[in-house]
Amino acid sequence: MKKLMAANWKMYKTWDEARGTAEELVGLAAGKLPADREVLVFPPFTALKAVGDVLGPVAGFSAGGQDYYIQEEGAFTGEIAPKMLKDAGASFGLTGHSERRHVLGENDEYVGAKTAYGLKEGLKVILCIGELIEERKAGRVHEVLERQLRAGLKDVPTDIDPERLSVAYEPVWAIGTGEVAGPAEIVEAHEFTRKILVSIFWKKANEMRILYGGSVKPGNCAEIIALDNVDGVLVGGASLQGQSFSEIVLA
Ligand code: G3P
Repeated sequence: MKKLMAANWKMYKTWDEARGTAEELVGLAAGKLPADREVLVFPPFTALKAVGDVLGPVAGFSAGGQDYYIQEEGAFTGEIAPKMLKDAGASFGLTGHSERRHVLGENDEYVGAKTAYGLKEGLKVILCIGELIEERKAGRVHEVLERQLRAGLKDVPTDIDPERLSVAYEPVWAIGTGEVAGPAEIVEAHEFTRKILVSIFWKKANEMRILYGGSVKPGNCAEIIALDNVDGVLVGGASLQGQSFSEIVLA
């Protein structure tokens, strides 16, 4: 299973900045990318085509859409369909990110509908899960992860190609705070996630990637990526510069 090194640029970068960073990344990392790693960038929608055009032709690199709606087309002002993402060069979609859950108000059911719909429409999907600090302090990590996983995967066919579905464990308290989860916390959460995936998808679950996200930096990536059941990373802040993300990709 290839490690998936993913960048989430969130609401940063104009078209030109995004294209420039994508070109820098390819220049720094493409020639050295180990055969067992894949690189993925989630730019903002307005820069998806520009970034897809840069990354698409490079072996091991791809682009994805940070969000999408659960209809093929129609009167849904402001929304964007999976087929439009694919048309712009995306092969991946992201669901359940903590900012969409906790800032934009998406609930478990909607995240589940979105995950299943993106897969049905031919995207590869990364479902994000993760607990709030209050939930961790209250000893509720497993309860929260299990709820988000079962609801998020409720309508995904159990015969899904395991390469098309990944989970990203992103503890909300570690996102953008500089406070990375400790190795024991990561291993514990990933092992639990794998266990729930196995209960849903049986053997196939061992071929699904579980990514870690939350304050991943060039200096901590090598240690994180070597942990059990860590099959990649999803990086926010440190992915915004070509130099630092290329160090992460090659760590
Ligand atoms: O999706 C990536 C993410 O939310 C982590 O952000 O800035 O902590 O790497 P950051």
